[in-house]
Amino acid sequence: MLDYFTEQASVEAVCARTGDAADPRLRQVLHALVAHLHAFVKDVGLTQREWEAAIAFLTRTGQISGAERQEFVLLSDVLGVSMLVDAIGNRRPAGATENTVLGPFHVEDAPLRQMGDSIVLDGKGETCLYTGRVLDLNGQAIEGARIEVWSDNAEGYYSVQQPGLQDKWNNRGIFVTGSDGRYEFTGIKPVSYPIPDDGPVGALLAFLHRHPNRPAHMHFLITAPGCQRLVTHTFVGDDPWIGSDAVFGVKATLLAPFEPVQGGRTAWLSTFDFVLTPLD
Ligand code: BEZ
Ligand code: FE
Repeated sequence: MLDYFTEQASVEAVCARTGDAADPRLRQVLHALVAHLHAFVKDVGLTQREWEAAIAFLTRTGQISGAERQEFVLLSDVLGVSMLVDAIGNRRPAGATENTVLGPFHVEDAPLRQMGDSIVLDGKGETCLYTGRVLDLNGQAIEGARIEVWSDNAEGYYSVQQPGLQDKWNNRGIFVTGSDGRYEFTGIKPVSYPIPDDGPVGALLAFLHRHPNRPAHMHFLITAPGCQRLVTHTFVGDDPWIGSDAVFGVKATLLAPFEPVQGGRTAWLSTFDFVLTPLD
């Protein structure tokens, strides 16, 4: 009996074509993908018109993507897939700082700055002193931790979104801890902003009656010898979007204090310790 394609045995028909020499992990992932995809099509009774609309959507998502824009990552972000993959890949012991999304606005090779320096090059926004320590799970200071930080400017745009208007390194920098594990730098109190919503992902959010906003946050990427890479943010807890982040990046443990300072060097103070997990 030849195994022709039928609605009932659609998954078996497709999976039977995989060659014996296929990579085992690829086989596992692709067969599960086919099974879930076919189950989804059957479950909702997907129509030809709906499938054509989905293909058109994915085509637009590809066409708008390039070196400066990755619409597929944005799609993964708004569908919660980025955070799910991140959660599975970064299960951490109690007490360790949690990961969240890297986002599309990280730029390699940011300038190394002296501890205590400012990252604000445009002089806009309310200044905030960020300080704390980088610790191991036993509360010991980590020397030589490399702390990369970046945020939007006071108008809600990252430097790379406004080439020509903002210096490429505005609100960005790298700091390295000394033996006390301390870090300190001046940034701005970040503001909430919409993710890029002028493409197909923005259109999808509008169809779903979902807003595109992210609550205000400072990005941190922290590496240290013998420790897992920490990609995270600290969030402004009283932000109006804190409970409905468009990309699901908020975790309760990442809400940081932002306290007003009277007569100080900066208008705000945000103190937060980061706890790194050892490599397995
Ligand atoms: C960000 O935080 O920079 C970001 C994350 C996901 C999508 C868009 C922006
Ligand atoms: Fe961001």
